[in-house]
Amino acid sequence: MVDRLNRQAVRREQTTDVSMLERLVAPDGKDVLDIGCGGGALVRELACRGARAIGLEVSQQQLGPALARDPDGRARYLVGRAQALPLPDASVDVAVFMRTLHHVPPADLRLTLAEARRVLRPGGAVYVAEPLAEGDFFALTSLVDAELEVREAAQAALAAAGPAGLDRVTTVDYDVRVSVPGLAGLRARMVSVDPARAAAFDARKARLAEAFERLGEDGEGEGEGCFLQPMRADVLRASA
Ligand SMILES: C[S@@+](CC[C@H](N)C(=O)[O-])C[C@H]1O[C@@H](n2cnc3c(N)ncnc32)[C@H](O)[C@@H]1O
Repeated sequence: MVDRLNRQAVRREQTTDVSMLERLVAPDGKDVLDIGCGGGALVRELACRGARAIGLEVSQQQLGPALARDPDGRARYLVGRAQALPLPDASVDVAVFMRTLHHVPPADLRLTLAEARRVLRPGGAVYVAEPLAEGDFFALTSLVDAELEVREAAQAALAAAGPAGLDRVTTVDYDVRVSVPGLAGLRARMVSVDPARAAAFDARKARLAEAFERLGEDGEGEGEGCFLQPMRADVLRASA
């Protein structure tokens, strides 16, 4: 694999999702809700860094991996949807959408942002980090599902969040380094979000294998590939 990561990193700051979140909304000591927490990596990191973290997923099954990876119960976990959060009004300090907002159907985005606003305490923040449609990880995953329309819809909803009672106050673009433990790991990661991707992945396996090798940098593990993914972080606060 070629040494692409260092060359591309000069374009914008390379950091981690949790570091950017920490910088923009200082979660330590706060009630932080991670909406669409997936495997719960961010929830655990937030709990380790002193936040009272809550992970939310759409079903008990989807919450399974996060629960399994937090046997000590450092965080709290809930089943529910972004469109109808199972929490009282004014009950969290930060509501996070980490790569999740574009998974909400476009027609529900305004309602979803209004829900996040509803559960915010005074002075709280909605934090949204979305992958941009560029970079090597996008080039790889777009062979299966480019998600272009839903990503655009999510950005449009953020730009027009006023009716949801929110103002977009800060926007920062950054790069993250995504590590994937081989092609099978990429398949598992993509299919866990949407089972319908399995057929498309299998049909394009040869092209995916070529792109994985060409675009990735060697990681520490056997067969592991690392890819740059540009991200956009937005902080929204309740309108005055
Ligand atoms: C791309 S994954 C991101 C997972 C995790 N936040 C991360 O950064 O690794 C998107 C997640 O959003 C969840 N999701 C999809 N629709 C949702 C909804 N309406 N409400 C809450 N979560 C949703 C999915 O189950 C999935 O785990």
